[in-house]
Amino acid sequence: MSIAKQVQNRKTFAIISHPDAGKTTLTEKLLLYGGAIQIAGAVKSNKIKKTATSDFMEIEKQRGISVSTSVMTFSYNNYTVNLLDTPGHKDFAEDTYRTLTAVDSVILVIDCVKGVEEQTEKLMNVCRMRNTPVIVFINKLDREGREPIELLDEIEQKLNIHVRPLTWPMGIGSNFRGVFNITNNTFNFFTPDKQRVEEDVETFTGVDDPRLADQFGKQAVTLKHDIELISGVYPPFSEEEYRSGSAAAVFFGSALNNFGVKELLETFVSIAPAPQPRETTAGVIEPMSDRFSGFVFKLHANLDPRHRDRIAFLRICSGKFERNKFYYHVRLKRELKFSNPTSFMAQDKSVVDEAYPGDVIGLYDSGNFKIGDTLTEGEQLMYKGIPTFSPEIFKELQLTDPFKSKQLEKGILQLTDEGLAQVFLQNQGNRKVVGTVGDLQFDVIQYRLENEYGAPCLFRPLGLYKASWVQYQHDSDIEWLRTIHPGSLFLDKHDNLVYISESKYALQRAIDNNPKAKFLFSIEHNTETHGMNEEA
Ligand code: G4P
Repeated sequence: MSIAKQVQNRKTFAIISHPDAGKTTLTEKLLLYGGAIQIAGAVKSNKIKKTATSDFMEIEKQRGISVSTSVMTFSYNNYTVNLLDTPGHKDFAEDTYRTLTAVDSVILVIDCVKGVEEQTEKLMNVCRMRNTPVIVFINKLDREGREPIELLDEIEQKLNIHVRPLTWPMGIGSNFRGVFNITNNTFNFFTPDKQRVEEDVETFTGVDDPRLADQFGKQAVTLKHDIELISGVYPPFSEEEYRSGSAAAVFFGSALNNFGVKELLETFVSIAPAPQPRETTAGVIEPMSDRFSGFVFKLHANLDPRHRDRIAFLRICSGKFERNKFYYHVRLKRELKFSNPTSFMAQDKSVVDEAYPGDVIGLYDSGNFKIGDTLTEGEQLMYKGIPTFSPEIFKELQLTDPFKSKQLEKGILQLTDEGLAQVFLQNQGNRKVVGTVGDLQFDVIQYRLENEYGAPCLFRPLGLYKASWVQYQHDSDIEWLRTIHPGSLFLDKHDNLVYISESKYALQRAIDNNPKAKFLFSIEHNTETHGMNEEA
């Protein structure tokens, strides 16, 4: 098959949600349809949950949460679908943000009882940076949730995206009867059944078909009224709007009851974009190019606690990747060959001989890779758009054994290369402040520094508010900051100046008193001009 055909056949996406909205449950159901897992009689969702997510690290086994991102590949309607899993725990949100740079679209799951939650908003902000197309799945319709129209309003307002419902529910909770598909006038009948495989669908002439009223009486009248109302409020769905990321297609269902999932999957494979051209430091690269290129968006360590090797997750962006061929590592300016590239299915890994744009492969790494690294066939280019966000929690790293400072130095640099946390340095690196988005990472770092690098350490909490990268042209642009807050100025690992403020007030004062400097709250790897988000 030609590269062009391979590209057209690929759909690479992630499911995102606030924890507990039903991401894992929906993942399982999609894998069942894709034949990637079997319904061996009564499959307990918890059991699949364990295999559908990977738990490589000892610490995540202890805590029973998934720290990693794995990739699940299945076929549906002749498409190759790559589902990139993201950690369910909010403390690992930064991992999820980076994974979003490796997908071409997302399915966003919203719990109809809870509506748009905090993590949903954050994830959508990241999607918006790359105008990632979004399909929304409003889940748990079998529970007494909020009014659908109210939920759509909330999505539009809080997530700043237009919505285009493609199905509409009849009733909710104990009165939930099913969903009407607005595009093809079918009704999908709901019966609570966790083991259901097939959906019970019937075609009608329209929402005013008398057969609907015969079956559902008053509820059919309400459905007709609702659909007339929403047809007046929302313009019809347009694939163009969806693909540009400005309008989301919306479905209603119940993942637990495998209801509305097939409808979602059918539409997903037909409308979701294939791998798209991507920006690099040398211009836009077309996926169908016959020259291979790809970038690392995730590093995963400690697959085997006895070894320190890591797996670099590479998203292929153009051309064809082949096993045992030399590729050019642009940052290191070195040719590398991979004899065991792997594809993933949770913990089952198999060696791949070739892979195409949209695919994600794992490369065994003994320390050559950092997040954002690019491999090519010799071209000097780096993929852009992999964000690093301002951390939310700061602690000072302290060595407890003075003879282990070298190990600590090496360990913290490698762990931050993996994207586990960020390190900010003062006094030629003698003072190290570690910043993360969640508390759990400090436990992971402490555990790994001690177990992998033999460097026992402690973290001292610091009452700091926010880190911002400071961009300036002349030293005089930041004179106030240097004079008033020298102790709050750090360097990141790439020698960028970072101001870590103690409070929102201090940050605002710094912004006001250094009007020529820019204070940025996210930066992109491989991009000289920092900054996508300049709001405090
Ligand atoms: P997450 O990955 O987004 O964190 O959510 P997950 O799928 O684990 O689902 C969270 C809880 O919501 C689970 O219940 C799951 O069974 C339930 N759930 C998912 N979809 C639906 C739905 O359509 N209807 C209803 N009523 N519940 C749903 P749990 O009790 O936390 O776990 P479990 O013991 O059922 O696995």
